Amino acid sequence: MRITTSLLFPMLLFIAGAGRAQAGDLSDVLAQCAACHGVEGIAKSADVPHLAGQNELYLLNQIKAFKTGRRAHKEMRYMSRQMSEAEMRDIARHYATMPR
Ligand code: HEC
Repeated sequence: MRITTSLLFPMLLFIAGAGRAQAGDLSDVLAQCAACHGVEGIAKSADVPHLAGQNELYLLNQIKAFKTGRRAHKEMRYMSRQMSEAEMRDIARHYATMPR
């Protein structure tokens, strides 16, 4: 089953990173995002959206929507679960400033 292996790696990364994630250090979080959305914000999988160069406010709103469950998606809900407001804003800015 394709979904199982494609999810296992980021899940493991997430678990490994969760313990040492520091406030203000985004690189641990971004490494997890990169597993699906690409290091450059360009996704390799057709069912994963590119984030590079997307509007900052849009990205922030989507992450918030995943966190609250307003936008339903299992993996993204899981990823956004522990994010602080500041982290969500930093992440949105990070991807918005990446070249497409
Ligand atoms: C397991 C794979 C996976 C991981 C890891 C992951 N994402 Fe996603 N992400 C997705 C998928 C799939 C979608 C599309 C969801 C849908 O179809 O509604 C998505 C959607 C999004 C969107 C909405 C984009 C849009 O155009 O609407 C944002 C923003 C986002 N992810 C940010 C992140 C961030 C930030 C992280 C790291 C904290 C992350 N994602 C980690 C798979 C992942």
